[in-house]
Amino acid sequence: MVRPSENSGQTRSSMDRSAGTAARWEEHRRTFEAYLEGLRFSEEPRLSGLVEAMRYSMLGGGKRVRPTLCMETAWVFGQAPAHVLPSAGAIELIHTYSLIHDDLPAMDNDDFRRGRPTAHKKYGEAMAILAGDAFFGEALTLITVHQEGSCEQIVEVVRELAGSTGVNGMVGGQVIDMDQTGVGSDADPETLHMIHKYKTGALIKSSARIGAILAGVPEDQQTAISEYADELGLCFQIVDDVLNATSTTAELGKSAGSDAEQGKATFVGVYGLDGARRQADDAVQRALGALSRVDGDTSGLQEMALFVRHRDS
Ligand code: IPE
Ligand code: IPE
Ligand code: MG
Ligand code: MG
Repeated sequence: MVRPSENSGQTRSSMDRSAGTAARWEEHRRTFEAYLEGLRFSEEPRLSGLVEAMRYSMLGGGKRVRPTLCMETAWVFGQAPAHVLPSAGAIELIHTYSLIHDDLPAMDNDDFRRGRPTAHKKYGEAMAILAGDAFFGEALTLITVHQEGSCEQIVEVVRELAGSTGVNGMVGGQVIDMDQTGVGSDADPETLHMIHKYKTGALIKSSARIGAILAGVPEDQQTAISEYADELGLCFQIVDDVLNATSTTAELGKSAGSDAEQGKATFVGVYGLDGARRQADDAVQRALGALSRVDGDTSGLQEMALFVRHRDS
């Protein structure tokens, strides 16, 4: 069973609200990275291979957008970012599982992820599948055993993740993505939007919502933050499509040009490069618009929206 190391969960941000947003993001990232590094899944020697495969995938880089978004949202609403670490960790474990499975030969069949061989290339398909599966259970353990909060909040966090990762969330989105592979530029716009919102947007939206839940925000604030993160999630996947078409494998640390090769339903395929970029810009504007209804210092969340739009990997 997953267990945070002795002191990693105790980290408290030393920053006050006057600190710069860039410094705060860096603090979230460092705090989160130390927390992830400190997670221990098992001391059973027979399971050391599984644990090695899990640590290879979860510690092999990654922008940590989802957990740091969760931490920043908690901060905006007056909660200590370190308070939400177990849930932020759970989100990143689930994201990592989704990447491992997404890369499998039965899905996108990719050899590189985060600048290194994919999990199945390194450990074989069976171990990659099982490492992904294990992450889901360990994510639930992090929330139900290690997350502090009221029973209502814990149940709400679990319900949030169950919804955003299930049939009407990430997995459903992946199924429609698979189903549409080969359709390419003929994909209908409604289905395309659905793929992006389900396969990627839902977990990003949940990341912010969970930060808000654990900060105990009122309903109107939860609605505003949800609208922001919904648009952020859509923008995130549109930019992923753009980068797949415009960057190199070396720049991305994962396969470039693969969407067109496989005839994936993407914003670039359906709207062209400029059209996709415009749609990403529009989504960012809508995200920023939603933030204007959030009570609190949203400078960091604004910065996140611009980062998601203009990132280069
Ligand atoms: C990649 O996600 C997969 C998508 C959902 C588009 P990220 O771009 O967040 O991947 P890492 O975690 O930084 O590697
Ligand atoms: C990944 O979508 C979505 C999930 C892992 C849920 P993509 O297949 O488009 O992302 P990359 O480009 O492989 O990271
Ligand atoms: Mg995919
Ligand atoms: Mg993929």
